[in-house]
Order: sequence, then structure tokens, then C-alpha cells
Amino acid sequence: MGSKATMDKIVSLAKRRGFVFQSSEIYGGLSSAWDYGPMGVELKRRIQDFWWREMTQLHDNIVGLDAAIMMHPRVWEASGHVEGFVDLMVEDTVTNERYRWDHLTDEERAAKKSPKGNPLTEPRKFNLMFKTHLGPVEDAGSIVYLRPETAQGIYVNFRNVQQTSREKVPFGIAQVGKAFRNEIVTKNFIFRTCEFEQMEMQYFVHPSEGDKWFAYWKEQRLAYYAKLGIDTSKLRFHQHGPDELAHYAKEAVDIQFEFPFGWQELEGVHNRTDFDLKRHSEYCGKDQSYLDEATKERYIPYIIETSAGLTRSVLMVLCDAYDEEEVEGETRVVLRLHPRVAPVTLGVFPLMKKDGLAELAQKLAADLQEDFPVFYDVSGAIGRRYRRQDEIGTPFCVTIDGQTMTDGTVTVRDRDTLAQVRVAATAVREYVGSRIVVG
Ligand code: GAP
Repeated sequence: MGSKATMDKIVSLAKRRGFVFQSSEIYGGLSSAWDYGPMGVELKRRIQDFWWREMTQLHDNIVGLDAAIMMHPRVWEASGHVEGFVDLMVEDTVTNERYRWDHLTDEERAAKKSPKGNPLTEPRKFNLMFKTHLGPVEDAGSIVYLRPETAQGIYVNFRNVQQTSREKVPFGIAQVGKAFRNEIVTKNFIFRTCEFEQMEMQYFVHPSEGDKWFAYWKEQRLAYYAKLGIDTSKLRFHQHGPDELAHYAKEAVDIQFEFPFGWQELEGVHNRTDFDLKRHSEYCGKDQSYLDEATKERYIPYIIETSAGLTRSVLMVLCDAYDEEEVEGETRVVLRLHPRVAPVTLGVFPLMKKDGLAELAQKLAADLQEDFPVFYDVSGAIGRRYRRQDEIGTPFCVTIDGQTMTDGTVTVRDRDTLAQVRVAATAVREYVGSRIVVG
């Protein structure tokens, strides 16, 4: 499943079916920002909901937060981003193309040659944070940054959330939101962009239990992708070596997915120790420790972070779900999406417009819309209508035909097997509902 995906096919399908458009396309576009169309916004939202349910609803001790994108500039000094959130950048002296130093091969770095064989400039540091000014005066005192990760909004609210929700360590705070990085090189469609979304959960634990919870979350997060229906042979862990660890991490593992352009990071799980809360205590001058009421022990919790890209997950899900097969001498393109994340759950079609079929189908669609995202389609041959739904991953299509008028049954077509079953129109809700359970 999904092995037939190439980036060209994914980009083309995404445009053709309204998943993703280039930002400001009519002006020539931006290469580093993308817009989510009618299908894309649904898919993205459902992946987010899937994650949110998994992380909050299914855990008694994880609560949510939605912090502002703009934060006090001292946050980014405390976090280490002002000083350390840098990439080394080099430029091809002939073509002026820019490269990340760490993305070049060992040979290219040793020879100081670009992938095109031209001499490179000396590596220089480049901070990835976008800087802007708050208020009308553009002076040093008005600088703010667009957050490069959502995590810091959680850390600075640690005490607010803990005290108001009365959670006891271990507990977690989950957040989904935009993040911004002035990436030197953006490529592979929505994989690496300057504006993207993250789904992060920060789990606060006793320092003696950091290793235990790191191991727990590493496994939980891999299991989540399996539950989302991702082909597990395309997922693997990549343990960070000492020279890969971020400045805040004691231990880190990436969950990687095999994209059409190779194995790449999808999510990071980090043991951030007490680094963040200690630094914020120091920089804001307010104690960020936690008092265990039972033992009377006061300490700064360790943080185990799970940090997944939402927009990157959209690309992963599209690549994993994409499939092609031969059906009656024609190539069928189908997205085998998990029914819970498919933008449309049910296509509802009258076989023909006439004989009252359209009215009946419309009535059924309106009724089912109360419970599922439904797409009513009356235009074109029935085969073409099925193909359109296949390309956006709609798991079920219901067709109203002549027989419906006599015995009240409809056909329900399964996207993956193409099997059609006849069920009573009144039973469609239950039939579909029972087949989209997450588990
Ligand atoms: N708070 C930790 C943190 O931000 P990260 O490894 O830098 O860690 C976490 O980012 C996840 O965010 C990545 O695994 C990736 O899915 C996503 N991500 C990071 N930079 C991205 C970018 N430029 N475009 C799209 N997604 C990105």
C-alpha cells in the first residue's frame, strides 16, 4: 500500500483534488508556504483531532493549551533559541544557491564544493527565528519573534496549568499550533516549510523517572501511527548520537517515515530534563518548581516531549495512502486513508437524476450529514463519481437506484475492496458507524 507514491504524483493529486495549493499562486507563488484547500483543511483537521483524542481524551492526566504565537522576547533567550537556534549556511559562489552545511555530503564538505561542483563560501551561522516588531516603533525594545516551536508556550504556562487543573506529576500538557522557521532550504512540497504546524505534548515527571517515561512515550507514539493506519514497515526509530542532540536534550529519538525521497523525521521524542523550567526560573526570577503534596518534596520536573509535525503528517498520510491499481483495464488512483481522517466519509449518489432518485438521495444525504461528512454528487457517469471519491479517499459510497424505490435498500460500495453490499437506507448510519471505529 502506498509504495506507488512519487512526489510528482502526490503534488499533482494534491492540486487536482483541492488538498494543497501553492501560497499566492496567482502571483507566481512562494516556494516555502502552502495553502490547504477544501480537502486539505479537512484532512489536516482530522489528523489533528485524531492526535488530540489520543493524547488528551485517552489520558486522564493530559490537558490542553492554546498559547499565543508571539511571546515575550526573554522566553527565547531563556530557551536558548536566540543564541543557539542556528544552522550553518554556505553559498555556491557561481550559482548563489544556498545550502545547509549539515545537508552536504562528507566529500562536499571536505572539498568545500557544492553539489554542482562549484566552490562554496565559508559556513556562516544563520538564526532561524523570524523577527518582527510589536507596536508602531521599530526599536530594539519592540522585538518579538514568531515562535519556532510551540513547546515554550507550554513551559511558561506550567504553573498556571498545574495550579488551575490541579494535576499531579506525572502529567502532560498538549498543544497544536503554528510555528515558524526561516529555513535556509525548503523543499519536498509541505515537508519542510517556513510556516508549519506542530502537535506537541510535554509530560512533566519526577527527575528519577525521566528514563522510564521517555521509553514509555517512545513506544506510545509509534503505536499511535499504527493506529492511524500507517504501514509500520515504513516507520522506524532513529536514536540521536551525542553530536545530534539538541542543546536541551539528554536523550532523543526521531520517529522516521519512509517518504518517496527517503527516510525522514516525522516526530521527535526528547528527554529535555529540567533544562527548560530551570532556565525560565532563572530568567523570569520566579520559581518554577513543583511541590509534591504527599511527600513534601519540592523539585523541578523533568520534561519528556513528544513533538510531531502536523503539516508533515499530512504529507506522510498522503504518501502512505496513495495507491494505484488496474481496474477493468484502467488505472484507479485511490487514497486508502483511515476512515477517521478521510475528508469525506460518505459519497451519496442517485444512479440517475430522474424518477425521484435525486430527491431521495438528497434526503438521505441530508439525514446522514448529521453524523458524517457527506458529499452529494449527481454529475457524470456513476463510475466517474466513484473515481473522484477514490482520489480523495472517501471510504464508502452509497448509491440510490431503482430498487431503492421499491424495497428501500441502497448499495454501499467499499473503497478498498470495491465490494458492494445492499443494506436498508435506514441502516446506512449504523453500517458505516460500526466500520469507522478507531479502537
Ligand atoms: N519542540 C521540539 C521541536 O520543535 P523539532 O525536531 O525541531 O523539535 C519537531 O520539530 C517536529 O516539527 C519535526 O519532527 C517535524 O515534524 C516538524 N517540523 C520541524 N521543522 C519543520 C519545518 N520547517 N516544516 C515542517 N515541519 C517541521
